[in-house]
Amino acid sequence: MDSRSAAASGFPPGFLWGCATSAYQIEGSPRADGAGASIWDRFVRTPGRVLGGDTGDIACDHYRRMREDVALMRELGLTTYRFSIAWGRVMPEGRGRVNAAGLGFYERLVDELLRAGITPMATLYHWDLPAALDDRGGWLNPDIADWFADYAQVCWSALDDRVPLWATINEPWVVADGGYMHGVLAPGHRSAHEAAIAAHRLMQSHARAVQAYRAVGRQQIGLVVNIEPKHVMPDASEADRHAQRLADAYMNRQYLDPALLGRYPEELREVFGAAWPDWSDAEVEALKAPVDFLGLNYYTRAVVRHDAQAWPVPASPVRQPGAIYTETGWELHPQSLTDTLLWMSERYGGLPLYVTENGAAFYDPPKPVDGRVDDPLRVHYLRTHLGAVRDAIARGADVRGYCAWSLLDNLEWALGFAKRFGLVHVDFETLQRTPKASARFYADVIASHGAALDR
Ligand code: BGC
Repeated sequence: MDSRSAAASGFPPGFLWGCATSAYQIEGSPRADGAGASIWDRFVRTPGRVLGGDTGDIACDHYRRMREDVALMRELGLTTYRFSIAWGRVMPEGRGRVNAAGLGFYERLVDELLRAGITPMATLYHWDLPAALDDRGGWLNPDIADWFADYAQVCWSALDDRVPLWATINEPWVVADGGYMHGVLAPGHRSAHEAAIAAHRLMQSHARAVQAYRAVGRQQIGLVVNIEPKHVMPDASEADRHAQRLADAYMNRQYLDPALLGRYPEELREVFGAAWPDWSDAEVEALKAPVDFLGLNYYTRAVVRHDAQAWPVPASPVRQPGAIYTETGWELHPQSLTDTLLWMSERYGGLPLYVTENGAAFYDPPKPVDGRVDDPLRVHYLRTHLGAVRDAIARGADVRGYCAWSLLDNLEWALGFAKRFGLVHVDFETLQRTPKASARFYADVIASHGAALDR
């Protein structure tokens, strides 16, 4: 497509169209070829932690079916693929010894993608911390920034010549909130004090890796955050508005503000109370590291009201009558995707942006019928959210790519295989892949560089 017709569709020439996945959710064979255990290998084996006792032992078997999956991506016309590298495959103990066989898997994946004309986008950390590091305190240990930067260097020395886009950490908020505050994700702790420390160590690790990359890297590096705009009802009280500000600081600004502005939002002292560690100005300023791009994972917004029982933020969501909700209980609200892209662009200096995840779990037919899986709500979700991205571009946000979550139905963490986010259906008994109607729709969007959104 020439650049004039590409631009006419509302998406700039070179805009990347992709799907995203993460290692533990799709790969299976978590201990193959000398890989070390991760906190997820342990978590899934702790009774009651994962719905239905599901594990990532097989997942989508992508580790063994990688070539078939890249062929599928090519068939859909993807121009980028966002995947994560399992730290424990590369360094089984998390530090020190490098496992060439584990690294080799990602080298083969990247080569296969490049052969298919697909730009690799690699995330260094998508929640699968090596268990050996967790034994040393995991994200609470002050040394973790050095461990992370060392691991990142190993990945770059093998892959930086072929991977043009690197992300350090996927959704630090989820790592700290799910892993250390509420304990619903690995490693399953429940402590506000630990959550504040883990959050800080995550951002230290991000900053240390970005600094290290400046010395050796040849490509681009960024951070991936999940943002969920917090709104109030039209008749909101002052207490509701205050709760909204706290919720926004905790979820949406706790990570981006230190990483890009060198300060924590003021409201965090109130959110964490006595659990808030008194970081010195110098310690907080050191979290600032200039990135080449920001990745946004956007799923939903939340309308909140004050709720004194909610912890750590005194806010609860209010269900919106008439709205469509996904199977994970998330309201469809594409307008908030536009608003978030514009907000990020304005607040953080007009950085290039990628939508690194966006998608929905819906109740799909359990099995393909005549080789088809019809998922009209997901098609609607994709159509409206891609439209929202286009609106943000028209209003000046520098959005350079979009990745649907997810390529395949996969292990939805503590929810097991029950919630399906894939554009491609996976039969978890036979592991057969069947592109859903949403995959076909997305393929048309890609082939027309966005024009199919208006058909
Ligand atoms: C994560 C994915 C997850 C998705 C849907 C994001 O928070 O990065 O790993 O599967 O949301 O819940």
